[in-house]
Amino acid sequence: MTSLPFWPLDQRDLTTHTGPKVPRVTTSGLLRAARIVLALRDEVPCRTALLQVRVDVEVREMRTVIVYESLFGNTHKIAEAIAEGIRAQQPDAEVACVPVAEGTVALISGADLLIVGGPTHMRGMSSGMTRKMGAQGEQKKAPDVHMEPGFDGPGLRDWLAGLSQPTGSSSAAVFDTRAGARMAGGAAPGIARRLRRHGYRVLATEGYIIDDTQGPLRAGELDRARDWGASLSRQLAA
Ligand SMILES: Cc1cc2nc3c(=O)[nH]c(=O)nc-3n(C[C@H](O)[C@H](O)[C@H](O)COP(=O)(O)O)c2cc1C
Repeated sequence: MTSLPFWPLDQRDLTTHTGPKVPRVTTSGLLRAARIVLALRDEVPCRTALLQVRVDVEVREMRTVIVYESLFGNTHKIAEAIAEGIRAQQPDAEVACVPVAEGTVALISGADLLIVGGPTHMRGMSSGMTRKMGAQGEQKKAPDVHMEPGFDGPGLRDWLAGLSQPTGSSSAAVFDTRAGARMAGGAAPGIARRLRRHGYRVLATEGYIIDDTQGPLRAGELDRARDWGASLSRQLAA
């Protein structure tokens, strides 16, 4: 068996060598090889980092937080339908759907999408006064009317006042529930304005129609909310 000479070879070895062909090694070749090694040394960590980014993007699912305010449960139902729509679109997506009192800084921090919704009162967002008035008025009409847990606690107005700048993504979407009348107004514009003030980018706003003050929701509104959730999810993933 012919033994190959040690590398690097010198010119004389190559001329006398009779075994299998080996590459001719010259000084300029060695310099070029050294440059390639140096270039690779710089490039490899960069390639590894790029790979890491790709893996992160592929593995991490979208995290959405939905924060709602609701007196009689209608806005709550819409919020849950939006969550369902997102989950249907992205089965592995993480979706938290919580009332205002549970919309903590820890929960919303780092969310890819923040969705905020509330009922329309006096053509705009509710206040402590309108919530109290609404609850007393409807309970007088129907003592067994369903009231949401925490309906007499702080509302979206207070929650938004204490909101901090977004961490991570600043994408947001806003919805409200309202009457179908032409001059009904809406809570969504006020919510969107406040979110923008805090640095959020509001991608979409939507209003869902109720048939009366304490509900029910107009037929088809839950399906529309599911579709809206799915379309937001698609928009974010694009
Ligand atoms: C005090 C009060 C004022 C309201 N004002 C309006 C209004 O100006 N425009 C409107 O479309 N709906 C108005 N509504 C109806 C609410 O939009 C409705 O009660 C709400 O959408 C139901 O959602 P919830 O069950 O989540 O509270 C008012 C309701 C209350 C209690």
